[in-house]
Amino acid sequence: MAIRPIIETPDPLLRQISSPVAEVTEEIRMLVDDMLETMYAAPGIGLAAIQVGVPKRVLVIDLQEPEEEGGEPVRDPLVFINPEILRASDVLQVYNEGCLSVPEMYAEVERPDSIRARWLDRDGKAHEKDLDGLLAICLQHEMDHLEGVLFIDHLSRLKRDMILKKLAKWRKERSKLAA
Ligand code: NI
Repeated sequence: MAIRPIIETPDPLLRQISSPVAEVTEEIRMLVDDMLETMYAAPGIGLAAIQVGVPKRVLVIDLQEPEEEGGEPVRDPLVFINPEILRASDVLQVYNEGCLSVPEMYAEVERPDSIRARWLDRDGKAHEKDLDGLLAICLQHEMDHLEGVLFIDHLSRLKRDMILKKLAKWRKERSKLAA
């Protein structure tokens, strides 16, 4: 396993549409394992393959929810290959989203509260499930990446420009610290 570099906006690769995985091979499993390691190291709760520069429909998510409230985070890696949304609720929920490709920036995004999704796991086994809460939000955010969409695209132009300005400022400060 290896940590791969995460690409950040405005890298044009992030705008690419990812292709379906024809077969879950050993190469795909290696990609999945690297993505999990990269996500945990970042740290983040979700990562799409395109964020490490691979335009394939592969996502990893781990909400690392503690078993009890206020407890230690527990690892529960989830792998979504060729995910599809079959149904989405009319009821929406708002969540303050962030993204490893838009570092340190957060904004409220509205998405369907619950979805029915279908996907393959790391072994190529098919799953179909109703998902809600943070997992539904996170899966929709990661699936956007497969279409070249970032969470900031859901915001008004004004809000998006504000975030991109803040990001530029943050990068300047980061490079000053590194110098
Ligand atoms: Ni993201």
